[in-house]
Amino acid sequence: MINRLKITTLTIFLVVNTLSPTCCKDLFSATLGHIKPKATPETQAAAAQDVISRIIPELASSFSVVVDPDLGETDVFQLQKQENVIQITATTGVAAAAGFNYYLKYYCNCHVSWEASQLNLPQDLPDVDITVPFNDRFRYYQNTCTTSYSFVWWDWGQWEKHIDWMVLNGFNLVLAFNGQEAIWERVYQRFNLTQEEIDGHFSGPAFLSWLRMGNMRGWGGPLSPAWHSRSIALQKQILERMRSLGMIPVLPAFAGHLPRAFKRLYPDANMDMMGAWVGFDDTYCCPYFLDPTETLFNEIGRAFMDEQIKEFGTDHVYNCDSFNENRPTSEDVTYLSNVGKSIYQAMTDSDADAIWILQNWLFVNSPSFWTVERAQALLTSVPIGKMIVLDLQSEFSPKYDDLDQYFGQPYIWCMLHDFGGTLGMFGSSSVINEAPHTARNEENSTMIGTGLTPEGINQNYVIYELMTEAAWRTSPDNLTEWFENYATRRYGFADDNAKEAWRILQRTIYEFKNRNYGQYVIINSPSFSLSTGTWYNTSDLLDSWTYLLAAADNLANSEGYLHDLVDVTRQVFQVYGDAFYNGLYTSFNGGDLHSFDYYGTTILDMFADLEFILVTNEAFLLGPWVQSAMNAAADVDEERQFQQNARNQITLWGPRGEILDYAAKQWAGVISKYFAPRWKLFVEYANETLTSGVSFDQSYISGKIFDEVELPFTYDESVLPVVPIGDTVETAKALYDKWMPTLKTMESLINMKK
Ligand SMILES: *[C@@H]1O[C@H](CO)[C@@H](O)[C@H](O)[C@H]1NC(C)=O
Ligand SMILES: *[C@@H]1O[C@H](CO)[C@@H](O)[C@H](O)[C@H]1NC(C)=O
Ligand SMILES: *[C@@H]1O[C@H](CO)[C@@H](O)[C@H](O)[C@H]1NC(C)=O
Ligand SMILES: *[C@@H]1O[C@H](CO)[C@@H](O)[C@H](O)[C@H]1NC(C)=O
Ligand SMILES: *[C@@H]1O[C@H](CO)[C@@H](O)[C@H](O)[C@H]1NC(C)=O
Repeated sequence: MINRLKITTLTIFLVVNTLSPTCCKDLFSATLGHIKPKATPETQAAAAQDVISRIIPELASSFSVVVDPDLGETDVFQLQKQENVIQITATTGVAAAAGFNYYLKYYCNCHVSWEASQLNLPQDLPDVDITVPFNDRFRYYQNTCTTSYSFVWWDWGQWEKHIDWMVLNGFNLVLAFNGQEAIWERVYQRFNLTQEEIDGHFSGPAFLSWLRMGNMRGWGGPLSPAWHSRSIALQKQILERMRSLGMIPVLPAFAGHLPRAFKRLYPDANMDMMGAWVGFDDTYCCPYFLDPTETLFNEIGRAFMDEQIKEFGTDHVYNCDSFNENRPTSEDVTYLSNVGKSIYQAMTDSDADAIWILQNWLFVNSPSFWTVERAQALLTSVPIGKMIVLDLQSEFSPKYDDLDQYFGQPYIWCMLHDFGGTLGMFGSSSVINEAPHTARNEENSTMIGTGLTPEGINQNYVIYELMTEAAWRTSPDNLTEWFENYATRRYGFADDNAKEAWRILQRTIYEFKNRNYGQYVIINSPSFSLSTGTWYNTSDLLDSWTYLLAAADNLANSEGYLHDLVDVTRQVFQVYGDAFYNGLYTSFNGGDLHSFDYYGTTILDMFADLEFILVTNEAFLLGPWVQSAMNAAADVDEERQFQQNARNQITLWGPRGEILDYAAKQWAGVISKYFAPRWKLFVEYANETLTSGVSFDQSYISGKIFDEVELPFTYDESVLPVVPIGDTVETAKALYDKWMPTLKTMESLINMKK
């Protein structure tokens, strides 16, 4: 390899080598050497050039891409201005697109994100002459849940845009999870399941992640032939695009979870019914888990792999999580080792070059079961370098040190950040700024990448952008400056007030050091036992709001600014909802009718105003979510089914509220039809018990809320706005003037201990 490198890249290669101790690099180069783009350099260059054309159609001809795989063993891009054209030379199409984005960000002050873009390039493209090597072999993207929480209804247009975003940020190892149920249906048919049995097993589209992990079955289903064809077609488009850019798509493998009908067909096979998950009852819970050491496991696993490879081809990397939130039946280390061997064997019997990607969630979720010895037994059951471990939530619960760098298996340092795709603002900026470097530089480090593994996207973009840069950042950045510059790029103008607003957010909201399930008072079902409080001084949030609004004159035409003004206003109400709630709670307990009336009225008024601000921005509307679900349907019955799926996932999450509000969305339409009506019933009832002397009964009011608000919401079919209503700046200013005097007096109530 070395002697094929050009002189300029030799130095880069050495620099990368000295950054991290190299115990494992050569070994992993050998075991993972075949995990590389199959598309020709020309195809990758053309695909990267197409990304540029979609991002900046008018200026695309000012950029010229060459892909040269020999430029480095680890990805690298070079940017050079030659005769008014920006020459991008890179190892892959992904690296080239990432180089293009680097130029947009750091030479042109531009910004491309999930919800807003700012592409006001200078007339004369700035000079550039720089080489940027990536730190590691891989940049990984997606959690096995993202596919349901964020992508479930997407059409090709939405996927195309998102794949562009992935490569702009350098992701080269990503899940590609569409179409797998269509493959499973064929396999189940081959194993003689009836159509009725198959239909009873598949959940609806919005719940497929948890069907796949064996958590539940059937809820929101079945899946139609039309859905299967759509998913297969989509998967082919996605794979073709990813491969043309030089990305490595990760496909699923058989993890052992089976429809109940297999017990009828194979009564003697060793399979256990899985335990109930988060309160799902027998109707929808507990598929079977087939012991991986059974011969049948290998037969089913191979059948699935063969059928999948036949339909989609393969890049040899497979995600497989048998024990995400469920335990093996035996604690014996020999058994656990055999389990790992069998799972891997089913992969390699179909694809001899298979690499197993394992989410480390089992070790995080169940540390009492997964002792160091048992984890070691599973991890070392596969040849070293043939398994890649995703350290899934490295920013809060890293496991690479506890588990001795996975006993030699390579791992990827991932930021999970968000559960359920909820919207509250938070993030651990210092941790993600520093810890990946520390981990990479540990003695004998087996880290081979960085990644993003959120359960849901479309929130807190800033923290994801900061994390993506760990892919090439050589040392921690100055966060104060980084956040200021982020604001400037996102808004397209260096506004001092906006910078100050973000400096404040950085040192408060984005200095979180804990795990956050995104559950806040205003999005939780009302009761008098909710917890409140923030990790930062909420007067700082009010200051940030003040500064952001003060930037309105300069930034009122900026898409990113308008989004963030809605988001910060939303955050203010989310946080001060805690104060009104604590006021309500205290006055209720003290029997203070007057004060109860005040807080009760205030909290309902706040919900009305929250709806007003959210409805001014498309990113905060329920309508598009429901509409995209209906657009994915083949007929009116399916429209109804998919709409119910979409509404249930973000509210009840299950037929009876099994994980109530876990994936709640602070969107216009959800506030007015779901969160606010719940609190209205609650306040009225509590008020009634206060005045009548009848004792307060939580289960009564919870039942009433379920019957009158929660359940009807999931079956509602009324037409929703899909375009924003009202002016963001005007609305935010009016709400600021109306609420600020009150909020300033309420600070002490937020963190009140009960
Ligand atoms: C399915 O049923 C057919 C007909 O009874 C039988 O020949 C075949 O072996 C069965 N397949 C499996 C995988 O059991
Ligand atoms: C790193 O690897 C070397 C060579 O195998 C070994 O001697 C050393 O103890 C290892 N260091 C750590 C911290 O594991
Ligand atoms: C970060 O940058 C700010 C603003 O330029 C500066 O005041 C601060 O001292 C810097 N912090 C560090 C740790 O260098
Ligand atoms: C929060 O900040 C304000 C303004 O700086 C200050 O007056 C107040 O004491 C702080 N509160 C806490 C709990 O630190
Ligand atoms: C509470 O009950 C009183 C007496 O019926 C009523 O006047 C008041 O409006 C109620 N307050 C709320 C917040 O429902």
